[in-house]
Amino acid sequence: MTLQRDFLSGIPAPARTDYAALVREDRVHRTLYTDPAVFAEEMVKVFGGRSWVYLAHESQLPEPNSFLSVRMGMRPVIVTRDRKGALHAVFNRCSHRAATLCREESGIAKSFQCPYHGWTFRNTGELVGTPWPQGYGEDFDRSEHGLYKVARVESYRGFVFGTLNESAPSVVDWLGPAAGWLDYWIDRAPEGEVIVRSAANRMGYRGNWKLAYDNAGDGYHPAFSHRSLLEMASRMGDSKDMSYFGVSPDEGPMRTYMLGNGHSVIDQRPNYDGPGSFWANQRPQPGRERFEEKIRAEHGDDADRLLDLAIGSQINLSIFPNLLIIGNQIQVIEPLGVERTQLTWHATAIGGVPPEVNTMRMRTQEDFPSFGEPDDQANFEEVQRGLTAPEAEWILMNRGLGIPGWQEVGPDGVVSSRATDELHMRRYYAAWLEMMSEDSTR
Ligand code: FES
Ligand SMILES: [Fe+2]
Repeated sequence: MTLQRDFLSGIPAPARTDYAALVREDRVHRTLYTDPAVFAEEMVKVFGGRSWVYLAHESQLPEPNSFLSVRMGMRPVIVTRDRKGALHAVFNRCSHRAATLCREESGIAKSFQCPYHGWTFRNTGELVGTPWPQGYGEDFDRSEHGLYKVARVESYRGFVFGTLNESAPSVVDWLGPAAGWLDYWIDRAPEGEVIVRSAANRMGYRGNWKLAYDNAGDGYHPAFSHRSLLEMASRMGDSKDMSYFGVSPDEGPMRTYMLGNGHSVIDQRPNYDGPGSFWANQRPQPGRERFEEKIRAEHGDDADRLLDLAIGSQINLSIFPNLLIIGNQIQVIEPLGVERTQLTWHATAIGGVPPEVNTMRMRTQEDFPSFGEPDDQANFEEVQRGLTAPEAEWILMNRGLGIPGWQEVGPDGVVSSRATDELHMRRYYAAWLEMMSEDSTR
């Protein structure tokens, strides 16, 4: 194996291109979380060069000529609707001298004029004007200087993904069984309408982006990392939300499912028993009693169903590499640097329910990001700090590996396991390795 210097530690590390040496069946090498060269390559390959990346939800682009500024890995991108409503994504990068064109988060625009020297582009990317064009020769062809376009943009029931890989499979094929779990989440809205709130809850941590993905499918940590949350809830009764993570989660009915291409889901629903149980077992929420009285008085037999819609979906669905569905929320992983990540939580409202349900959903959606997420982010930062010790090279992901009776193959071919199995990490790293390999066609 060739050796090279590890950028941060000065200790020789395996060659960066030899990713197979860094991802083993039961462990991964620390440099995957610390090496800027690995990060730079991930931003090209994992975040769009080979695979699909989540960009936006269609409800954030509600009308023709809407736009939304996002990132695709480190690339600044504008997702747009054209005047007929079709979706596009272009690099937010002027083709003159590279300034970002659009500095607003969202809005309505038929065209974008670069603030630097005034070049103007249609919202589909074509260059339409250069100030004082006599300064360019006859051979200057505007059609050659449009914005760089994200090669393919596709949506699945409102979730918009982009890739630079012309030969990627369709989004539906790439989602595979994950599409069915998205269906469950979307169909909780009685009319299938999900509205992503424009304001977002943004948090940053000093750690690698994969720490968030590792953790999203991790049923091992809640008992310890979220102890204060579980203890607070247990004062209200033992069956409160997430209490099943607290005591022997592997003995309960909860399962984690491997959905291919690095996607996975933890299904907490078997811990609940029937209509009204999501509501009955939620942690304390301000205004809850008055709300319940009103819904029960006005909706009678339908009240349990409506009350459950005010509570999270009880699944944690991870769509590789950057989309996490947690409760009622969409969380987006946004890498900012090898040791810097932004996590953006978007609350959602749904159509086809009384307005009080959406008000109460907001109370639910304030709960975990404020009360639980700081525990997770503290762990991410402390893992990153632990990783600065270069002599201790490996991160383990071997829990559940080879343990008889844990993993099962369902009739649909989907592999599942107990909630604390680190199988989700082993599976997504296999997808990661394929994308990062030189001869990958993904
Ligand atoms: S950089 Fe955009 S017009 Fe010059
Ligand atoms: Fe957590």
